[in-house]
Amino acid sequence: MAMINKAVIEEVIMRTDIQSLISGYVSLKRAGSMYKGLCPFHSEKSPSFTVYPQTNSFYCFGCGSGGDAVTFIKQIEHLDYPDAVEFLARRAGITVIRDEKSFVPKEKKFDKSRMYSMNVDAANYFHRALFSDLPGAKEALSYFTEKRKLSLATIKHFGLGYAPDSFDIFSKYMISKGYTYEELVAGFLCGKSEKGNYYDSFRKRVMFPIIDVAGNVIAFGGRVLDDTKPKYKNSSDTPVFKKSRNLFALNFARHTSSEELILCEGYMDVIALHSAGFTNAVATLGTAITSEQARLMSRYTKKVIICYDSDEAGQTATAKALKIIGEVGLDVRVIVVPGSKDPDEYIKSYGSDKFREVLNGAKMEFTYKMDNILAKHDINLPHDKVNALGELEREISRVYSEAERDVYIKIVSKKFDVDAKSIKSDVERIINKNIREYKKSEEERAKQTVAGYSDKINPDFAKAPAVAKHEEIILALLMLYPEHRKTVFGENLLRIDDFFTDFNKRVFESIEKAYREFGDLPDFNEFFSPEEVGRITKMKLTRMALSANGDEVLRESISSLKSSMQKKNSSGTSTFEDLTNLINKMRGES
Ligand code: UTP
Ligand code: MN
Repeated sequence: MAMINKAVIEEVIMRTDIQSLISGYVSLKRAGSMYKGLCPFHSEKSPSFTVYPQTNSFYCFGCGSGGDAVTFIKQIEHLDYPDAVEFLARRAGITVIRDEKSFVPKEKKFDKSRMYSMNVDAANYFHRALFSDLPGAKEALSYFTEKRKLSLATIKHFGLGYAPDSFDIFSKYMISKGYTYEELVAGFLCGKSEKGNYYDSFRKRVMFPIIDVAGNVIAFGGRVLDDTKPKYKNSSDTPVFKKSRNLFALNFARHTSSEELILCEGYMDVIALHSAGFTNAVATLGTAITSEQARLMSRYTKKVIICYDSDEAGQTATAKALKIIGEVGLDVRVIVVPGSKDPDEYIKSYGSDKFREVLNGAKMEFTYKMDNILAKHDINLPHDKVNALGELEREISRVYSEAERDVYIKIVSKKFDVDAKSIKSDVERIINKNIREYKKSEEERAKQTVAGYSDKINPDFAKAPAVAKHEEIILALLMLYPEHRKTVFGENLLRIDDFFTDFNKRVFESIEKAYREFGDLPDFNEFFSPEEVGRITKMKLTRMALSANGDEVLRESISSLKSSMQKKNSSGTSTFEDLTNLINKMRGES
């Protein structure tokens, strides 16, 4: 297999300062010789994401992601290996002449840039169709202008369109532009019937193109003109689109001078808000908000105001969104438009000044929840009052900061005319109970991790943890010290068959191959997924923390691996005994 141009990659990595690279995405604080921050790959409140400038690596103790600059960019920008290398090269001012042969051949079936241009052609077609004589076009245009009161400027700004009332007029057009049915199906623009006929995915629907922050048309949403179901049809995930990672109108909202983003439920809410001057509104794409979308917002703003539908479903969704958005460290507020079902209807009935007033009264999470709880109970009745108080105490117990809890306790104490001390002791009791439960479940999880259950990256770990543990020590030593590589491969101390777990076999194989081919370590990003690189990084870090890593340790580890393998194969030691021994050993060590 062709190798990547090693010199270019080395140059790229050398010129990339990992700490400044990551600082562009994560706010890092110095902690000794390392830097710490909130992990961009999972939701957390206290930082377990660590950057090690000396080794040019990062590792998250919360979710296990880790690696070097290339791994980081692969994951955060959702790029494949060659694209990630090119991304970093560009950033470092190195021109990469892309010699396809020098990169690993891609399995990729669809050319992303063709998919993007296909979507642009489709969006243009739908947009022109709205002003055409095609079947149904007149009704579609008047749906937007009359029924939804949109101006032509707004229709143009959002590139709104119409998918004609026909089974194949659109796909025939796209085929005439040179796209294949395979591409149209992959891009969710066409479907294929059981008989093998292709048909347009969107028919007789007004169309909303979805555009990412880089300006690419990545998907479409289509709405019926009447009350038929489903009301909206959205592109499912395609090679260039992940619903859970994008937000409608963020391409516009990211440029507003506003300090905050307004998060709505629907396309029409966003469009109404933008045309009323609130160009900082965005919406999810027909699904509940995800952590990825919350993190996406946190790249552009520090504050999000949730403005979901006023009905029960909208309010339930608000509670969930509060949690998810709060978890990424965003300041989150809530508004509920009074007397209307959604912001779109509100703006149309009351105008933008009134909406501005509602916006100014945005509530903090706790106030919003307290008001909801108070609305459900009549606190003049003792029983209701006790229930409401209990619910509020549970809410307060979820607040992380003690000072913040005290503020809420005072508010509730006043409102309920109950001694603040009693509320505080109730809250503390709830917190302690939660801590006990958390500890118990963590202990359970720790046991399972030692045993390697739920180990997705190395599923063989559980079958022989003692063996796997020795494998990891040896691999770490090999990765950390060139002299150990020289010893092991020079003296042929180990062969791939000395390893038991498949994952560790693969790691060993790649290290040996790179050593024999060019006397250095492989770039793991080329052969392993980011999750796997995280595991490899962890092996290294675990070992790096220890001081005894010399030649004797290496040789001892190798003989321990071989003897534990033998024991496993001959004596019939059950996995269970093996496991118990290991756990006992670890206990003894710590
Ligand atoms: P709503 O039903 O609140 O729609 O769904 P809306 O935006 O207010 O639409 P109008 O005003 O009746 O035209 C909110 C969002 O949920 C998704 C869409 O993204 C919609 O904008 N949705 C809704 C679907 O994906 N499919 C559906 O069938 C309905
Ligand atoms: Mn609506």
